[in-house]
Amino acid sequence: MAVASVTKRFGILTAGGDCPGLNAAIRGVCRAAHDRYSMEIVGIANGFRGLIDEDVRILKPADFSGILTRGGTILGSSREKPFAPNGKDDDITDKVSAIKETYAKLELDCLVVLGGNGTNTTGYKLSREGLNVIGLPKTIDNDIFGTDKTFGFDSALTIGTEAIDRLHSTAQSHSRIIVIELMGHKAGWLALYAGVAGGGDVILIPEIPYDIRVISRHLEKRSKSGKMFSIVVAAEGAMSVKESEMDKKDRKKFRAENGPSVAYRVAQKIQEETGMETRATVLGYVQRGGIPSSTDRVLATSLGTAAAELLAKGKYGRMVALLGDTIGSVDLSVPEGKVKNVPTDHYMIDTAKAVGTCMGAE
Ligand code: F6P
Repeated sequence: MAVASVTKRFGILTAGGDCPGLNAAIRGVCRAAHDRYSMEIVGIANGFRGLIDEDVRILKPADFSGILTRGGTILGSSREKPFAPNGKDDDITDKVSAIKETYAKLELDCLVVLGGNGTNTTGYKLSREGLNVIGLPKTIDNDIFGTDKTFGFDSALTIGTEAIDRLHSTAQSHSRIIVIELMGHKAGWLALYAGVAGGGDVILIPEIPYDIRVISRHLEKRSKSGKMFSIVVAAEGAMSVKESEMDKKDRKKFRAENGPSVAYRVAQKIQEETGMETRATVLGYVQRGGIPSSTDRVLATSLGTAAAELLAKGKYGRMVALLGDTIGSVDLSVPEGKVKNVPTDHYMIDTAKAVGTCMGAE
């Protein structure tokens, strides 16, 4: 028996980096909205690009059935940023006008956007243009302000931890230092948690600029104590003290000249400083692929069904969120333009230090 709903028809899109759990979230929104409230659902292809190009299709139950365990997103994704200046002001106006026209032409009551900081910020900006928008936080980086955790993070944490476990055996066999780079270009949550879970000897995160001399002394001390191998876990956004003092433009130039991968830069410096054989591994997009963990499936489904409830009640302009151990929502303005960084006094940093991990700085 369908229950009355304020929302009769909504559009749904996924934007930004994909992650395990996206399809579980899509399924949560769509099954609750369709089965409980008989809402009509318009699937929008490839993030905001699909709205601009009117690349859409009606989603039927068969479309959102059997996708709980599938990685990626059935809708496709892009990093199209309608409000991002790219040198031609009229370009933004045209893109936003096209989005508003598609929204009106499809007779949508609301737009549900699944994405990271940028996607929810775009959703908020569209809400200020008069569209009804509900946001769903997703990213392996876990760096979205307003929610205690994002789905995608747990799956990537499992993948990263398994990789670190595997590197232990090869580093030990060759008495080597291996530097593994995990994703997280602005926040170090993934590297911090996987580093603790995998027993990393050094963990480098963007929030704590590193000093290669401190790292080298720590590794030499380990070597003198008989530990002839070490694992360094670095977030892709980790930076040296010198880099941290650069502005964005100079830092970009530095990285272009010294190699874009922090793992290779750090590995080279460690080998130069200590003379110990050092190798680098960049785990890359493996962290974003494959089936979601059970934790991510549960979180994604819960956030999805919570979004359907907001649709039914007509509570637009919200982002669903994990708040403590319950699912709630915050104003869509909350994540705008922000990044949830690792606080330098976060308990996990002291946990790492307490078991002898070097965080790259005194
Ligand atoms: O935002 C999630 C993320 O995986 C980051 O950790 C990573 O730096 C970025 O996306 C990669 O972006 P792209 O998929 O556009 O290469």
